[in-house]
Amino acid sequence: MERLQGIRACVFDAYGTLFDVHAPMRKLAPEIGEKAEEISRLWRQKQLEYTWLRSLMGVHADFWHVTGEALDYALEQHGVDEPGLKDEIMALYLKLDAYPEAAEALEAVRARSRLTAILSNGSPSMLDAAVRHAGLDKLFNMVLSVEDVGIYKPSRRVYRHAMQKLQIHDAPAICFVSANTWDAQGAAQFGFQSVRVDRFGLKDDRIPGKPAGLIKDLSELAAIV
Ligand code: LAC
Repeated sequence: MERLQGIRACVFDAYGTLFDVHAPMRKLAPEIGEKAEEISRLWRQKQLEYTWLRSLMGVHADFWHVTGEALDYALEQHGVDEPGLKDEIMALYLKLDAYPEAAEALEAVRARSRLTAILSNGSPSMLDAAVRHAGLDKLFNMVLSVEDVGIYKPSRRVYRHAMQKLQIHDAPAICFVSANTWDAQGAAQFGFQSVRVDRFGLKDDRIPGKPAGLIKDLSELAAIV
């Protein structure tokens, strides 16, 4: 994709973009069996749905709570009822693997004097644990959570929060990076220059907002900001 103009900060989604949300189920696959991959997919889908539903219902609960409820649903739907398994999976969610190119890509973006931040649905303690575990803690100027706003992405209030915290008053000066179609599109609709990391070979959703472009993984980012 072509180089973006006027970027001052790169703001990253966390789950699916920097951290591999399917790592816990892969690790436990020997125990859970062949359903593990399908459970992981359903877990992620329900986790996101519950954020949107709660935002519409006006009944916010933090991402740890929502993630636990989504996991309960996915396990029950697949008839998995091992004592202690849920707690084991949730503990792994605090120690997710970062994608292998993430650290180097962040260093390269910072070497271009761009600010770096996370803007995530994750609660502050979840994000803190994941960032530390992956050794990425020195690579961000800020780690921002929707908990400061009380509603989930893609609410415009969340994207605006990043502008306020970064003290950037011109939305297109922010490059928003997400592997989630609806998040990359929500950020583009808000006014950020949005880049989608096409990890999963997905088409854009049929919703407003068009990313400025797609990259294959984060290693392509520094060259375009
Ligand atoms: C996040 C989810 C949407 O990190 O991936 O905000």
